Amino acid sequence: MKLSTSCLYSHNQIAQRISELANEIDRDLRGKEVVALVALKGAMPMAMDLIRAMKTSVTLDLIRAKSYEGSESTGNVTFSHLPECTMRDKTVLIIEDIIDTGQTCTAIQEILQNDFQANDIRIVTLLDKPSRRKVVCEANWVGFSIDDVFVVGYGMDFDEAYRDLPDIHTMEP
Ligand code: IMP
Ligand code: MG
Repeated sequence: MKLSTSCLYSHNQIAQRISELANEIDRDLRGKEVVALVALKGAMPMAMDLIRAMKTSVTLDLIRAKSYEGSESTGNVTFSHLPECTMRDKTVLIIEDIIDTGQTCTAIQEILQNDFQANDIRIVTLLDKPSRRKVVCEANWVGFSIDDVFVVGYGMDFDEAYRDLPDIHTMEP
């Protein structure tokens, strides 16, 4: 697999879309106490740009779920970091880089409901690959809906490489 030479979304396109998402989320979550929960590691750049573009004040927490080896989702989701804050009576905004099979995001929702008593969970994802779903999982806000391609950059990796690229690229065989 090698990096495509042209990018799929430039950092300017990403910034523009994140600013639109921030406005929509501000409008929809007006008056709520919001916990912004960053799905590590891929959603870090997206989360930091999004919460700064939002006018709603948030508290920040982190969760680290892992299901991928190379470019294949194993479907077996494990957690290596869990949030520290209480979520009862808060609105939890899960910030994802990408929803693919839907298994990671579903596992995150389940652990938040079961172990953190979260009862108002919303999901924002920068990218969505709806054609790849194995379980039902729908984000409340989607940056870009994409085809079945493997992407890297702006936080997203191929075996931990390319997270530092400012633009989003596809990987080619
Ligand atoms: P899911 O459980 O299959 O929905 O996968 C979700 C996670 O897999 C994401 O949070 C990413 O970390 C990773 N992932 C899925 N598709 C891609 C991709 O195209 N590029 C990089 N990472 C991906
Ligand atoms: Mg990943």
